[in-house]
Amino acid sequence: MTRFIFALLGLGLAVTVAAVDLTDAQRSDIEARIKPMGEVCLQGDTSCGGPAVVANAGPRSGEDVYNAACMACHASGVAGAPMQGDVTAWADRIAKGTDVLYASGVNGVAGTGMIAKGGCMTCSDEEIHAAVDFMIAGSQ
Ligand code: HEC
Repeated sequence: MTRFIFALLGLGLAVTVAAVDLTDAQRSDIEARIKPMGEVCLQGDTSCGGPAVVANAGPRSGEDVYNAACMACHASGVAGAPMQGDVTAWADRIAKGTDVLYASGVNGVAGTGMIAKGGCMTCSDEEIHAAVDFMIAGSQ
């Protein structure tokens, strides 16, 4: 019995030593295998090789902007916001023309809960226009 335990201990030691005692080649081999997948390559960084996963790839889609910045009020009608998909609530607004709605999106509607850019100060005008397009398309 005691011999058996010593044998196990010996085996454990052998395994431990083997795990620590790697050659440089083995080590870099293992590091390559456990490297995280899909590493982000920043725009303009050519050191990554292959097609770069660009972190900031142009303007966000209207749907993305809507989900991030507009849905909070327009999904539920907070503060009298015309609800997304509510054809009746949007009909008169859409009749004013897209440019008017773009301007409301970018500048807000004075005296109402519709603040400039829905509060998304990192959104470009272009992204707000896309969000307005998305809202119009889903509400007529
Ligand atoms: C804090 C709440 C809130 C957020 C966030 C918000 N809205 Fe609004 N929005 C309103 C309210 C309230 C109105 C109605 C204003 C009124 O009485 O004409 C409105 C109206 C609008 C209108 C119609 C304006 C018009 O001239 O008839 C557009 C277009 C619009 N919002 C776009 C957006 C977009 C795009 C976003 C996201 C980038 C957004 N809103 C985020 C509250 C919000």
